[in-house]
Amino acid sequence: MDGNGRWASSRGLARAEGHAEGARAVRDAVETATRIGIPFLTLYAFSVANWARPRGEVEALMRLLVDFAKSERMELRQNGIRVNVIGSLEDLPTVTRHAVEDLITYTKDGERMTLTLALSYGGKKDIVEAARTLAIKARAGLLLPEEIDERSLALHMTTHALPDVDLLIRTGGESRVSDFLLFESAYAELLFLPIMWPDFRPQTLVDAVEHYGQKERRFGMTSEQVAKNVQAFDPFDQPS
Ligand code: IPE
Ligand code: MG
Repeated sequence: MDGNGRWASSRGLARAEGHAEGARAVRDAVETATRIGIPFLTLYAFSVANWARPRGEVEALMRLLVDFAKSERMELRQNGIRVNVIGSLEDLPTVTRHAVEDLITYTKDGERMTLTLALSYGGKKDIVEAARTLAIKARAGLLLPEEIDERSLALHMTTHALPDVDLLIRTGGESRVSDFLLFESAYAELLFLPIMWPDFRPQTLVDAVEHYGQKERRFGMTSEQVAKNVQAFDPFDQPS
């Protein structure tokens, strides 16, 4: 969700106003995703690198998160949306952390869509921490190093409850992944949009999903194999 700051600056507004407008776009995107039947929506709300921003901006984002959690909790629950977090929730200020934890508990029975907020998230960091956890387990004799595979690594990441990424959308005009879901988006379709995040409309998401639907995903195979429905290589399903 890139471009909040530029959206604000181009209107002579403070960056925080751009983030507030971005939160409105989030509400619309969540509602639209639910309506069109997307089972998993993951939003890159705050990266590990974002901690380096000016203190006032970090505080504004943390406050906005509290406001979002409080104002949306009822509607999220009513719409069957379960909130989940990837990254390091424990890095957040106590008030924000509590508001998000409350949101997770309050919406835990939602079965229509899983809305994941990436908070203090870094893709490399998530991979490194999973590797460290596996190494610690191996040292303790709980697993053999030879048993480490893609599945065990994936299960130790904060994304363990999520499927791999199908479609990754970045607004704001940059063609970068910026440390988002590196492991999980190995075969994702990437869509880079020139619009700023506050200008993301329900129709933008509908169009993006339609564009995605026209793509042929080959997972390393040929077009002919895909047409014949040949089973794709599944790293989790290899004879050991
Ligand atoms: C939103 O956009 C990013 C976050 C959710 C922290 P930016 O704040 O990066 O906006 P630009 O790139 O400065 O326009
Ligand atoms: Mg940016």
